Amino acid sequence: MVKNKVLVTSALPYVNNVPHLGNMVCVLSADVYTRYLRLRKIPVIYVLGTDEHGTTTETRAIKESLTPREVCDKYAKIHKKIYDWFECSPDCWGRSSSKENAELSQDIFLKLAKNGYIKEGEVEQAWCPSCKRFLSDRYILGECPFCGYTSARGDQCEKCGKLLEPKQLVNPRCELCSGTPVFKNSKHLFIDLPKIEPKLREWIAKSEKKWSLNAKTMTQAWLKEGLLPRCITRDLQWGIPVPYKGFEGKVFYSWFDAPIAYIGITKENLNEWKDWWLNSSKVRLVQFMGKDNIPFHTILFPASLIGSGDDYTLLDEISVNEYLNYEGGMFSKSKGVGVFGDDAMESKVPADIYRYYLMVNRPERADTEFSWQDFKDKNNRELVANLGNLVYRTLSFIARFRNGELPKPAESKPNDAHKFLEQWKLSLGRIDEAMEAIELKKALREIMELSSLGNWYFQTSEPWKSGPEVADTALYLLANLLKDLSILLFPFMPKSAEEIQKQLQLKEPKWADLGKLSLQPGDKILEPAHMFNKMEDNFPDIMRAKHSGQQQAAHPFSKIDLRVAEILEVREHPSANKLFIEKISLGTETRQIVSGLRGYFNADELVGKHIVVVANLEPAVLRGEKSDGMLLAALSGKDLKLVLAPKSKPGEPVGIKGIIQTPAKIVNISEFKEAELSINGKQVYSKGKGPLQSASETLAIDMSDGTSVS
Ligand code: MF3
Ligand code: ZN
Repeated sequence: MVKNKVLVTSALPYVNNVPHLGNMVCVLSADVYTRYLRLRKIPVIYVLGTDEHGTTTETRAIKESLTPREVCDKYAKIHKKIYDWFECSPDCWGRSSSKENAELSQDIFLKLAKNGYIKEGEVEQAWCPSCKRFLSDRYILGECPFCGYTSARGDQCEKCGKLLEPKQLVNPRCELCSGTPVFKNSKHLFIDLPKIEPKLREWIAKSEKKWSLNAKTMTQAWLKEGLLPRCITRDLQWGIPVPYKGFEGKVFYSWFDAPIAYIGITKENLNEWKDWWLNSSKVRLVQFMGKDNIPFHTILFPASLIGSGDDYTLLDEISVNEYLNYEGGMFSKSKGVGVFGDDAMESKVPADIYRYYLMVNRPERADTEFSWQDFKDKNNRELVANLGNLVYRTLSFIARFRNGELPKPAESKPNDAHKFLEQWKLSLGRIDEAMEAIELKKALREIMELSSLGNWYFQTSEPWKSGPEVADTALYLLANLLKDLSILLFPFMPKSAEEIQKQLQLKEPKWADLGKLSLQPGDKILEPAHMFNKMEDNFPDIMRAKHSGQQQAAHPFSKIDLRVAEILEVREHPSANKLFIEKISLGTETRQIVSGLRGYFNADELVGKHIVVVANLEPAVLRGEKSDGMLLAALSGKDLKLVLAPKSKPGEPVGIKGIIQTPAKIVNISEFKEAELSINGKQVYSKGKGPLQSASETLAIDMSDGTSVS
């Protein structure tokens, strides 16, 4: 049976990151391939959306004082805006947290269970008693047992690179509250991969012939090591509920429901989703992803689908990209290093240029590098000097010297024309082949070679001085070449291709028009405009400086670690009559702070109050007594008022919606002052942003306005 429809997917990006250019490679590759299939009039849909479940979302929600749903709503919008700007054209756009995906994931799970492919088991997990949540490995910090680094994570030490188990950490602490986790057993469900293995192997043996080498190798390595039952549930709140007795309150592991979201997203968009996903004999499934995603798509996802017993469409072809690095290092949003989707949108460089650069530099077989120098060089040498020049010189020559009409070619073509036509045809063959094999980088390079061939032909024909025979033939053929280039380039640079098509007044060009001299003598063209702009010599320096992370000015509030604290004891400072010494609790630790509350409050009215302290302020010694932090208070006439948090637990972080906290280890008093805390309507703001809040409440101070809080 012929598979005459194509289903294209690109790995669903994690929602809570702004995608960088390296992430764009995968999304753009799928887009280019889909646009190519559309030009060939092959029925195709491209499915794209966001991967939203998992601990990262929960943690980000706590950090941004939002609910997980709010975090996802916020970031899903950012993702969509970025892909739109990059001219990505998914037919189905959606989210893994949709109700369609929940239904599908639960349905597939229940079928797996019914077919005997689900097993119960116990897992030992870290639990934070003060946050009352299980911590996934990455969210436990502690001392690395190998190198002593104090902020090693439960899965790996970022300093020495050793892989770790959370239990190996010395003095483990919760990333959120710094509390000490305990290890508890928890019941979980496993997909019984060994039991599905025979069917899975049978399918792999039959399908892998068309997979890329890296996909084959990695899958075979997994099979060789032996498949183990894999845990598909988690103790989190944010996720798809597990519909199974005894497992209430648990959710699916995000790698279980994320690939199912390809189906969920299709269902969100199309009533006839089954024509695509339950139609395996007619539909060819082509999946694009980064190399770290391979086993999830060649083992876990197919095993879930096969085990369900339904006739789901399974992976036919896989296109795996390696990584794109940035200026010799890695992209990092938190450090502000690299170009992210939002930066690209603000850079004033058109999306087509990024599309071109990312595809011509596509990390197809090995990692590649994004560098601004190379970006500028490729723009100037390839787009401006090669392609742009060919389009402009051909069209402006026709506009100026042939009245904007295609001339009639000579009956017998001059020699160079033969050579040109022959090379052109060969080139089309090579491009076709590369596109078919999803070797997009190779195809694009060939397309640019074809443009160079056009420039060579223009040059050797010398239409400005050769006789009409040679000149008219050249202009006629070159206009037809531009038509081909516009079709070939459309998947890669849709806007630029449309610009050429507009100038040639082409209507609905398709892949099948390639190689045909379908533009006729007498056809009119429009006055051409320059398609690409040259980048100045200093452009790379300017861009590099802007994205190197050094100038990024974070909101000063983000450096400060504000915490709710409970006052445990208050005593008078032995040698300062304005000062009290308070013992406070930050949930997991107690500290001593010294503050000037004496004269405003009695000692015992302070005890038990939930106040707010700057927990990472440089410790100071005030008249011989150590003060490890500072509480927030403000003067109101003759009164001193405290910022209070009666409903919050000691240790709870205090933040501002929309400001991501990346507290510095220690801040000094002048860094604290940069946050410019002030009061407005009994609430506290930092440089106009606010109000200050904990997860439990918005903080209040009993005064209506005031300029400074300290
Ligand atoms: N979010 C994953 C990543 O960015 C990819 C998920 S692919 C899917 O690596 F199949 F699970 F959706
Ligand atoms: Zn905690």
